[in-house]
Amino acid sequence: MLVAGNWKMHTDIDAARALARDVVDSVGDPGDVTVVVCPPFVSLSAVAAEIAGTPVGLGAQNMHAQDAGAFTGEVSAPMLTSAGCRYVILGHSERRQFFGETDEGVCAKIGQAHAHGLVPIVCVGETLEERKAGKAEEVVGRQLAHSLRGAAPGSPDRLAIAYEPVWAIGTGETATPDQAQEMHAFIRVRLNEQFGPQTARALHILYGGSVKPGNAAELFGQTDVDGGLIGGASLKGEDFAAIARAG
Ligand code: 13P
Repeated sequence: MLVAGNWKMHTDIDAARALARDVVDSVGDPGDVTVVVCPPFVSLSAVAAEIAGTPVGLGAQNMHAQDAGAFTGEVSAPMLTSAGCRYVILGHSERRQFFGETDEGVCAKIGQAHAHGLVPIVCVGETLEERKAGKAEEVVGRQLAHSLRGAAPGSPDRLAIAYEPVWAIGTGETATPDQAQEMHAFIRVRLNEQFGPQTARALHILYGGSVKPGNAAELFGQTDVDGGLIGGASLKGEDFAAIARAG
């Protein structure tokens, strides 16, 4: 199980430090669950210092596909590793929706993440219109095919997929456990075709979209749900820890 908190554009440096401490204290010993927090870029170093020597890992929310260069406002993989990151969220629907992120761009970033030893958490998911039109699997299948083209994680712990139906993000509307399981099983089949059964079985497929302490256990209880990518509920240490405990 992998449970990651996506803090999005929340918390200044002091608040991030305090939240990281709260997460560490609330999570305690997470057992078999890998717990990761993904604060904004400016807080990565402060959070890294706060979680040093604890079981909580560090991730970023995005990165550029090149090592360095004239790319004003961007942050590279070597910068993230130097800040203490092991994980990076790529292709989040908010990046696709508001910042023009494409599957091809995500694909380049996945290769770059792997080249620098980062574990990409690759987000896929359909909109409500796409689901209503019966195109959810087609959309997610295409996102997977294009963004994972050429991906070579090496071992299953070097890649995670997050299924985040856009209609469930920040809306309070969660996919039902059946809906989540159905899509996760479909994703597993696609991963199987690309990476073979051993890797596909072991890769973490996370569910994201209005996961709360009250619904986490049922979602995580589904055969192909291997954890969660948590937005709003990751901003409270105790809620996030309760979700991690459900893993
Ligand atoms: P919420 O948990 O706030 O719905 O956000 C999910 C998400 O986008 C995590 O990346």
